[in-house]
Amino acid sequence: MPQSMRALVAGQVGEPADVLRLESRPVPTPEAGQALIRVKAAPIHASDLHVLRGRYGFSPDFPAVGGHMECVGRIEALSPDTEGLEGVEGVEGLEVGARVVVAAVPAVPGPHVAGTWQEYLVADTRRLLSVPDHLSDSSACQLAVNPLTALLLVTRELDVQPGEWLLQTAAGSTVGRLVIQLSRHLGIRTINVVRRRGAVEEIKAFGGDEVICTEDEDLLQRVAETAGPAGVRKAIDCVAGPVGAQVSQALAPGGEVVVYGALSTHRQTDPAALTIPLQARSVIYETKVVRGFWLNRWFGTASPEDALHALSQVRSLVADEVLSIPQGRPFPLERFTEAIALAETPAHDAKPLFVFEDGRDEDGLDEDDRGNDYR
Ligand SMILES: NC(=O)c1ccc[n+]([C@@H]2O[C@H](COP(=O)([O-])OP(=O)(O)OC[C@H]3O[C@@H](n4cnc5c(N)ncnc54)[C@H](OP(=O)(O)O)[C@@H]3O)[C@@H](O)[C@H]2O)c1
Repeated sequence: MPQSMRALVAGQVGEPADVLRLESRPVPTPEAGQALIRVKAAPIHASDLHVLRGRYGFSPDFPAVGGHMECVGRIEALSPDTEGLEGVEGVEGLEVGARVVVAAVPAVPGPHVAGTWQEYLVADTRRLLSVPDHLSDSSACQLAVNPLTALLLVTRELDVQPGEWLLQTAAGSTVGRLVIQLSRHLGIRTINVVRRRGAVEEIKAFGGDEVICTEDEDLLQRVAETAGPAGVRKAIDCVAGPVGAQVSQALAPGGEVVVYGALSTHRQTDPAALTIPLQARSVIYETKVVRGFWLNRWFGTASPEDALHALSQVRSLVADEVLSIPQGRPFPLERFTEAIALAETPAHDAKPLFVFEDGRDEDGLDEDDRGNDYR
């Protein structure tokens, strides 16, 4: 085992490309209840960039290793006190050498969060999930956050029933595509909002029942034509701003929208651009509900058994190919500037992933998909 490793570290809050530096750090040692993980692949999520910009729901202590959500890796070492794990759903097969998903999402948002953009990290063994061999590293490293969010939004948060309409924004996002697949599986009909015409056919071909393009269509009118003049009863939104406001207007009386992201606000500084302007009359007299969902808070309130149960459920849905997680685009840590720029480029075709040397032969990623100098 090496003494030191590469890590992508932000010295302070700021623009990710300005504050991140590739550093050499000591390989950490697992303490009681922890495992040492050799990371194989870790995604760059919008929320990871939000954390670095100091605009997320928690802030780590800086300097901080980037990447706070999830990764896939191999167990390199376990702390000596790992008995007691046997028989707990999801943790079977946790032994040195096992390939595991690390749900790094902190249950209690706070400063002591291990970043995933490093070669080794230590993680609580209750946050590890073994991975079926046939699942690629690209899928496994994205298993914990977006598929779980899609599952919880559709089933537990909104309890959408077969035959009901579900309205969603940013339908081309990873979460959006997973919601479409899950909805088809459950017999739910989706109305999918995208921001560019080029995405419409793609989302239809992907299985979206209806697609509304905000570039050249009236969201309210199209929802009324599809779900009826009263509107839809259930919606999820990750855009916020004027689009989120239109989604709330498109709700039927008593309808609910769960806001789980605010993509339109990410690079904004004007306070007016950070809102979801609601119609007070409609909220009061039509008793519409606008509420939030945050996976971190969910992990903080769910019991460890329930969290592992839900993670096992998404693992089965992905392993059984009910849900297929769009293939990511691999980058070595050294090309972080390029990878981070890609994460926020409109119409980018794949989520950037940091892939480590250990993953070269068995990650399920095509050579053609790799960065040019990643060999
Ligand atoms: N609350 C939670 O716990 C939780 C958990 C997971 C994810 N999320 C949130 O879910 C959202 C989606 O995440 P993801 O990883 O699935 O995203 P992703 O795969 O990176 O895709 C981003 C998508 O959003 C679209 N988009 C970006 N900015 C937009 C804007 N201003 N208006 C409309 N569409 C926009 C992009 O459209 P183009 O194709 O046109 O570029 C793209 O389809 C993010 O906000 C993320 O933070 C929240």
